[in-house]
Amino acid sequence: MAIFLSGVKPTGIPTLGNYIGALRNFVKFQNEHKDDLFVFFVADLHAITTPQDPKELKQNIRNLVGLYLACGLNPDNMILFIQSEVSEHSEMGYVLQSVTYMGELERMTQYKDKAQKQTEGIASALFTYPVLMAADILLYDAEYVPVGDDQKQHLELTRDIAIRFNNRYGETFVVPEPLIAKTGSRIMDLQNPNKKMDKSADNNKGCIFLLEPLDSIRKKIKSAVTDSESIVRYDVENKPGISNLMTIYSSLTNLTYQEIEEKYRGIGYGQFKGDLAEIVVDEIAKIQNKFNEIINSPLLDQLLDEGRQKASQIARKKLCEVYKKVGLGRF
Ligand code: AMP
Ligand code: TRP
Repeated sequence: MAIFLSGVKPTGIPTLGNYIGALRNFVKFQNEHKDDLFVFFVADLHAITTPQDPKELKQNIRNLVGLYLACGLNPDNMILFIQSEVSEHSEMGYVLQSVTYMGELERMTQYKDKAQKQTEGIASALFTYPVLMAADILLYDAEYVPVGDDQKQHLELTRDIAIRFNNRYGETFVVPEPLIAKTGSRIMDLQNPNKKMDKSADNNKGCIFLLEPLDSIRKKIKSAVTDSESIVRYDVENKPGISNLMTIYSSLTNLTYQEIEEKYRGIGYGQFKGDLAEIVVDEIAKIQNKFNEIINSPLLDQLLDEGRQKASQIARKKLCEVYKKVGLGRF
């Protein structure tokens, strides 16, 4: 049985980028691998590496759990939990800091980007964040980690940490593989197609949220930045705006770029954007309906309680093994 694992930070409401780059793939893999185990969690400890309002954070955690299920994750072969409820993540993170080098963390591009945006001092947790992420993964012997393109560097570091630990203390961790989709692993901002769509961005006009009113989604797609050529053609370098919209189109319909180009040959951007708006709205409306059905159901807490228990069991065992190998305590 293979183990697939991934997490999403509960900072704000998940975006269409999170859906196409991550959530939707979780569901796809789960459907394709019914005999394997899927470990999904809400990465709330990662959320506080940048300032969060406590009330909003609480709400975002609940909404994210609801969205995981509304997007189609199946409780049958899944362990679903909240990261902070399984204390082994922090404990393992600390041990792994002892085999991670400052220079490795200084090279992380996400840290550099985020640190630049901080006005009130940079939390040291933002710096050590990739080590906690390595702990999240290595605790469960995960073989596959489905993520968007922006997590690739963190996954490479996780592999390096696992290999280094294994070399130093003997075979302990499974070295995980990232699963990054060919199309849609980096959805860009609709107003600035050179920047990734990000739920924590300052300007929301280029970002589609999964719980946003459908009319507002239509408007954002129709006012997405394109170019003056008026030809639907995939060319990231010269036509980043239209190429990004084509990526969204292709991801949600499974049409290839070529098929989309043919379909809209001789037809302007207006029709293309109108069609895309309806495709996106159809998909998100389904998620919202399901979300509204389940968000107040006791099923959520039931699943989270069960998830916490199962995750803790696996994580405790791994942590004890690590303490023992490192020579800590009286193990
Ligand atoms: P985060 O919201 O940063 O916790 O990201 C959760 C997951 O969504 C990770 O696997 C990210 O790589 C993925 N993701 C975030 N933003 C995007 C985006 N704009 N396009 C594709 N995937 C994304
Ligand atoms: N760091 C990831 C992000 O920002 C979220 C995350 C935390 C994660 N721990 C993980 C993803 C472990 C995959 C595996 O998107």
